[in-house]
Amino acid sequence: MATLEIRDLRVAVNTEGGAKEILKGVDLTVKSGEVHAIMGPNGSGKSTLAYSIAGHPKYTITSGTVTLDGQDVLSLTVDQRARAGLFLAMQYPVEVPGVSVANFLRTAKTAIDGEAPKLRTWAKDVNEAMSRVSMDPTFAQRSVNEGFSGGEKKRHEIVQMELLNPKFAILDETDSGLDIDALRIVSQGVNRFSSQGDRGVLLITHYTRILNYIKPDFVHVFVNGRVAAQGGAELAENLEAEGYDKYVQADREQNAAQQSVQNGREKLVAGAVRT
Ligand SMILES: Nc1ncnc2c1ncn2[C@@H]1O[C@H](COP(=O)(O)OP(=O)(O)OP(=O)(O)O)[C@@H](O)[C@H]1O
Ligand SMILES: [Mg+2]
Repeated sequence: MATLEIRDLRVAVNTEGGAKEILKGVDLTVKSGEVHAIMGPNGSGKSTLAYSIAGHPKYTITSGTVTLDGQDVLSLTVDQRARAGLFLAMQYPVEVPGVSVANFLRTAKTAIDGEAPKLRTWAKDVNEAMSRVSMDPTFAQRSVNEGFSGGEKKRHEIVQMELLNPKFAILDETDSGLDIDALRIVSQGVNRFSSQGDRGVLLITHYTRILNYIKPDFVHVFVNGRVAAQGGAELAENLEAEGYDKYVQADREQNAAQQSVQNGREKLVAGAVRT
């Protein structure tokens, strides 16, 4: 069994006005066999969390830890993280003109396994993975994501996940922009992956409709750079009915209280200096 553990993770991005803190102390533990859904308002830091775990250079970890079975993930390079068993399906998959899907998948598989996949079985594996998500085999010869529709890009992410078969898959809005049939197809892919039993899934989503197909063991509400609430699948249903308002409000009140404690301290210090 494997464990991905995130402790008090704080992350900043560089902006023109200096470093801006986005993640403000994230605690989250995903064990193999579990599906965790993360839901939360736009801009709350969900993608920042995904990218920080994967090792995107834009994000600076200011404190906290991410470990995979006790191994420090944050000290690893991006490719070492992939070899350690982490996979990220991006919210906005990037286009790579000039690199065919077939070449890309084979290169990624070779890098992760440390040896080239067997020629005889590999072509069949790729074809099958593509047909499982209803991608025409001709996509293998096209440049990675170039000119793919939104839904085709997302299905291609699932093909990668299934072929690379990581220990933990972080899926950032893989359900966004999918038509009804594609949503079912993508969900089936995620379920196939997680039903292996020793795989963990972190599913970032805005929509409870994907949770009709994929039953999460845990749901986390992400607000303003941290986990504001967690529960079981029923929490997603409550969110659908009630929205994020109560969590956003509670976060504001908590921040205001912290600010006033801070102001009080500063006044005390200023008073002590004067006397
Ligand atoms: N370079 C930057 N300069 C300023 N702010 C930034 C920068 N990069 C990211 N941010 C901010 O970080 C916050 C978190 O962004 P992130 O993409 O993680 O949110 P999210 O929860 O994934 O949102 P969504 O649901 O819309 O995908 C946003 O407010 C975003 O504007
Ligand atoms: Mg996002």
